[in-house]
Amino acid sequence: MTEVKKQFPKGFLWGGATAANQVEGAYDLDGKGLSTADMVKFIPKEERTQDHALDVSKAEIEAIIAGKVDARFPKREGVDFYHHYKEDIALFAEMGFKTFRLSLNWARIFPNGDDKEPNEKGLEFYDKVFDELLKYDIEPLVTLSHYETPLNLTLKYNGWADRRVIGFFTNYAETVFKRYKNKVKYWLTFNEINVISLSAYTGGGVLLEDAKNPLEVSYQAAHHQFVASALATKLAHEIIPGAQVGCMLARMATYPATNNPDDILKAQYENQQNLFFTDVHARGEYPSFMNRFFQENDIQIVKEIGDDEILKAHTVDFISFSYYMSLSATASPEGDRSAGNLMGGVKNEYLESSDWGWQIDPKGLRWTLNDLYSRYELPLFIVENGLGAYDKVEEDGKIHDDYRIEYLRKHIEQMKEAIADGVDLIGYTSWGPIDLVSASTSEMSKRYGFIYVDQDDWGKGTLERSRKDSFFWYKKVIETNGEDLD
Ligand code: BG6
Repeated sequence: MTEVKKQFPKGFLWGGATAANQVEGAYDLDGKGLSTADMVKFIPKEERTQDHALDVSKAEIEAIIAGKVDARFPKREGVDFYHHYKEDIALFAEMGFKTFRLSLNWARIFPNGDDKEPNEKGLEFYDKVFDELLKYDIEPLVTLSHYETPLNLTLKYNGWADRRVIGFFTNYAETVFKRYKNKVKYWLTFNEINVISLSAYTGGGVLLEDAKNPLEVSYQAAHHQFVASALATKLAHEIIPGAQVGCMLARMATYPATNNPDDILKAQYENQQNLFFTDVHARGEYPSFMNRFFQENDIQIVKEIGDDEILKAHTVDFISFSYYMSLSATASPEGDRSAGNLMGGVKNEYLESSDWGWQIDPKGLRWTLNDLYSRYELPLFIVENGLGAYDKVEEDGKIHDDYRIEYLRKHIEQMKEAIADGVDLIGYTSWGPIDLVSASTSEMSKRYGFIYVDQDDWGKGTLERSRKDSFFWYKKVIETNGEDLD
């Protein structure tokens, strides 16, 4: 019998995760083209009509380009990682990071998305970043597409709704695989690929205002991304020796709100809708439960001959996902709502919530790990998890973020439990090791970092970096390979 150990395996990949549009800044430097994220403006909380503020219409994009919109676009500025990457990576190294998840900004490399040749300056930037990481033995984990599409692809093709974008993407993927094949082994294709079904603009650069059946357009765009993801997986395996390619899901573990069978069926339905995206990547085919969903929503997915074979032949090596919260589903139309990153549910009375109303559920992470592992039997990688919170800088400059430590400790404890349950978990990159611009609200004040960045919601501040209490705590966690969580 294999001995059950409640400990992290040797070589466990501890680190942190970011996305280009939330940290880099330099949105128009060195030949970078505009991307969809550059069009998302900051809306103060009091003026926001929903929890998230990231969809943009065509008319708005045109007005922005014409200079007719007086607003701040925080994702253009990020936290200026473009000029601070050396300092930031040195701080990650000080914490002992084994890996760092970052995304490439597609429009930095192919400014229009459909260009024939890449922008050398863009490629050089990531060369420098990878070299810096490797200098400290930090393994890069690279997402090809994280919530940004070259804007030209949106305006000219309606983003991923158009099949031609598959070719532009595989050209981009091939370019970066060839360029970085000796530097990067771990790749993710699309960040939170399921988000395309919730915000088509964010997930796929798709504008839905003229769509007769918006859901159909979103799922068609998802199909194009599935094919592109499989083709990119194929290319990575051919080009990069030992490449490991994963898909990435915003996992929304959904409980039934009660033991009423109607709630149980509703929760099962929600989980299936969410896991559809990993099913295709891991099993290489559409699950049968989607047929009914497509039929009831009048959705016809147009597939080309050969698509099914591509999906089947190039499945992923591992499953990665983000986990911030669990949700509860009810079949009844009543009930107090809870917030979430794009999806909410009904309130779970057993759970506390973050400052942004996201329900904190560490044990749900153990459940999620067990559930995903028994479904796919593939290595799992948690590539996002963390607490967005307001931080206070004390008079002596210190930041005592014990709430963040508490959140992370409880989740890491549950990861250990899941490992003892038999789950093959290969790594953990907490979200936003350095404060960055929020994806859903474009706020700076929603902070996740171990490293504080002096910048407020209005872009004011020195951009100076400083270590929070959690910085020293996470350093110890990594040093002891997750043994010392106190
Ligand atoms: C995930 C995204 O949904 O959640 C990240 O992949 C994002 O890009 C993170 O930042 C946290 O969400 P938010 O809205 O708090 O930034």
